[in-house]
Formats: sequence, structure tokens, C-alpha cells
Amino acid sequence: MDCPALPDGFDFTDPDLYQRRVPLPEFARLRRTAPVWWNAQPHGLAGFGDDGYWVVTRHADVREVSTRPEDFSSARNTSVIRFHPGITPQAIDAQKLMMLNMDPPEHTRVRQIVQRGFTPRAVRALETALRERARAIVAAARERGSGNFVTDIACELPLQAIAELIGIPQHDRAKIFDWSNRMIAYDDPELAVTEETGALAAMELISYAMDLAGARAARPARDIVSRLVAAEDEGSLGSDEFGFFVLMLAVAGNETTRNAISHGMHAFLTHPGQWELYRRERPATAAEEIVRWATPVVSFQRTATHDVQLGDVTVREGQRVGLFYASANHDPEVFDRPGEFDITRDPNFHLGFGGGGPHFCLGKSLAVLEIDLVFRAIADAVPNIRAAGEPRRLRSAWLNGIKELQVVYEP
Ligand code: HEM
Repeated sequence: MDCPALPDGFDFTDPDLYQRRVPLPEFARLRRTAPVWWNAQPHGLAGFGDDGYWVVTRHADVREVSTRPEDFSSARNTSVIRFHPGITPQAIDAQKLMMLNMDPPEHTRVRQIVQRGFTPRAVRALETALRERARAIVAAARERGSGNFVTDIACELPLQAIAELIGIPQHDRAKIFDWSNRMIAYDDPELAVTEETGALAAMELISYAMDLAGARAARPARDIVSRLVAAEDEGSLGSDEFGFFVLMLAVAGNETTRNAISHGMHAFLTHPGQWELYRRERPATAAEEIVRWATPVVSFQRTATHDVQLGDVTVREGQRVGLFYASANHDPEVFDRPGEFDITRDPNFHLGFGGGGPHFCLGKSLAVLEIDLVFRAIADAVPNIRAAGEPRRLRSAWLNGIKELQVVYEP
């Protein structure tokens, strides 16, 4: 379907486009003229299908689709982690074991189990350990004097947080981090990741987690793994389910938070007034605005379970619907001055963690805590941090990422 507001053949999931920029002006045109628009271009991001998909751009519509799992399924046709190029058809099938790809009532069962590990209390219990980690990471960067902010600072805390949360033993963390980084490395020349080594890393991570689950099921300890796999009357995860849960956390909780931190730093560097304000007042609203501004997950998708009316269009059974959080987070119907980075924005009903409904981000409070702790540590130890070049963006239509941001760490 042509759209007069867009150039012919414009493709909202072209990774080359996102390597340059997020198409915010094009989203704005669609929100005004064709808020549910058929993107006819086939593309590489599986799960969206080869025959096009609906681009949903308005905040209200993204929320509506997210909260109607009976009409818009996460289980049908889904293969979220196909962005990993080496994934085999069997592995795609196995991803049905991940909660992101489930519908109620299956999803409800798994979510109720894993939620135990993500209660506000469980997250608060990590705060002291993570604050220490954040300070140590920033102190090490300061020692170096300058470097790539992404690898020096943004990468490590999210991994440490997941490892702390699920209780990965200290001596196993190095290999967990290595597998996680390989899985999400895309074209990183330093890690020499190929399709095969990336897929292998995912498989190794799953089998490690399955072994850990087996060991804890046999001999429960006082950690989250034991609570998830060895719970008695409330139900528990099988060791294969646990394996995929850990894989999902390594992807869902890792690169997302890393990119939020990197984009947050870039936003502060390009908005010095906001950094001044942050240094002075540390407003508690800053982390949420960073997530709105960054929108690390550009979009997720659903599949219509029957013909459904959405705004002015009829979405046919089996058609895919892309929920463009990046667009919803700039919708002027909801946000005053959406193009402004304002760390005091309140209220801030952004959809960076999803549009509500059953799949709303499980790790939201952990992510907000991490972002908060990192910027506090930076403001304390290297308050005069400055940019030393333009950022290099990730080539991905799914994640809004930064691969490199050279900075000077000035106290
Ligand atoms: C789901 C974003 C951090 C675990 C999601 C969804 C989004 C998202 C957009 C999908 C919501 C939907 O489909 O409706 C983010 C962002 C993060 C972040 C932007 C960082 C800034 C984390 C962390 C963890 C995590 C730290 C865990 C350690 C999950 C899980 C799901 C999820 C398990 C699937 C929930 C389900 O299917 O029920 N996240 N996330 N996320 N996220 Fe996050």
C-alpha cells in the first residue's frame, strides 16, 4: 500500500537505515496520515514474515494491541531471536519455550513462576551490591582516562545484575559473560563472531543453565534458581524452560540496558544543561526519560489471531503487526515537547518497556535501578566526562544500539 507521506519503498525494518538514524520524521508522518500502515517490504528480521507487516505508530494503538493477547498473539509465527543470524529452524522452534513467545494461559503460568525472582524486594536486595559494582566500573574507566564508554561502562553492569539476580556462581561468570557477548555481538571484529560461533554460544549458555537447574532441583540452595526450578506446590520451571529463560534474560536484560546507558550518556553529552541539572539534583525521573529518549527496543511484533479492526484498517488473520515503541514514545498526543530530552518529565507514560499487557517488561525495576546507579556513579567520579567523537550505531532494525562512544573521563 503506497503512502503519499513516505518515499516509495520506504522500509521501517531496514537495518541500514537504523545504522544511520531512527526514522522519527517518518514515524511522525505516519502517526498523522496513516497510523496503521502496511509495510510491504520483505526483510531479514524474522517474525515479521516475508510478506510485509502492519506498522503501528500511535501510542494508543500500541497499547491497545499489547493489551489484547487474545486478538494479537505472541506465540503465533514468532521467532524473536532470529536477529541472531546463526539460529537453526530447530532453535527457532525451541524458542517457543521462551515466555516472550507465549500466550496466556501458558504465559501466565511461567510469568507467575519467574515473577518471584523480580519482586521489588528481590530487586532492592541487589541494590548495595550493584552500587558497589557501578562505582568500581566507573573507577576503572577513570583510571584509563579515556576510551569507549560502551565497553568501558555500559556493558558490564547489566550482565552483573542478571548474574546477581539469578545467582550465577562467581567462578562461572566470566564464561557466561563471554557467551552472552558472543550471542549479541553481531559484526564485532574483535570477538570474531560468525553465525556458527554465535549460535554455539547460545547453545552453551542454555546447556549451562540447564545443568545449573538440574543441580539445584536435586539439591536446592538459597538462590533464585532453586526457587524457580524446585518450588513445590506453586509449580516450577522444567530445566529446559529454565535454560531458555536464562537465554532470554541474557538477551532481554543485557543489550537493552546497555543501550539505554549508552544512549543516556550520549543524550547528556549533547544536552549539557541536562547533565548540569542531573549533577546538581539527581532527579529520580531521569532513568525513565533516558529509556523514553533511547527506546532501546525499537519494536516488537504480534500476529492477528482473526480478522481485527485496528483504527481504520482491518488486520487479517495471520498478518503481523509491528508495535513501534520508538514512534509511540514521540507521540505528541501523549508527550508534551516529545523531541526534548527532559530528565524531569513527569508523568512519563513511555512505552520503552512495552505497551502494557501480559508481556510488559519483567526487568523494568532492575533496569531503572541500574541506569540510576550508573549515572550516579559517573556524576560522582567523572562529572566532567566529555565526548571525543561521534557515536557509532548498531546495525539493527530491532534494537536502537550504540556500539562505540569515545569519551574522556574527566574528574
Ligand atoms: C520484555 C524492554 C531490561 C527482562 C520486554 C519488552 C520490552 C522490554 C519492550 C516487551 C514488552 C511487550 O512485548 O509487551 C526493555 C528495556 C530494558 C529492559 C528497554 C532496559 C532499559 C530488562 C531487564 C530484564 C528484562 C534488565 C531482566 C533481567 C524482560 C523479560 C521480558 C521483557 C523476561 C519478557 C516478559 C514476558 O514475555 O512476559 N522488555 N527491557 N528486561 N523484558 Fe525487558
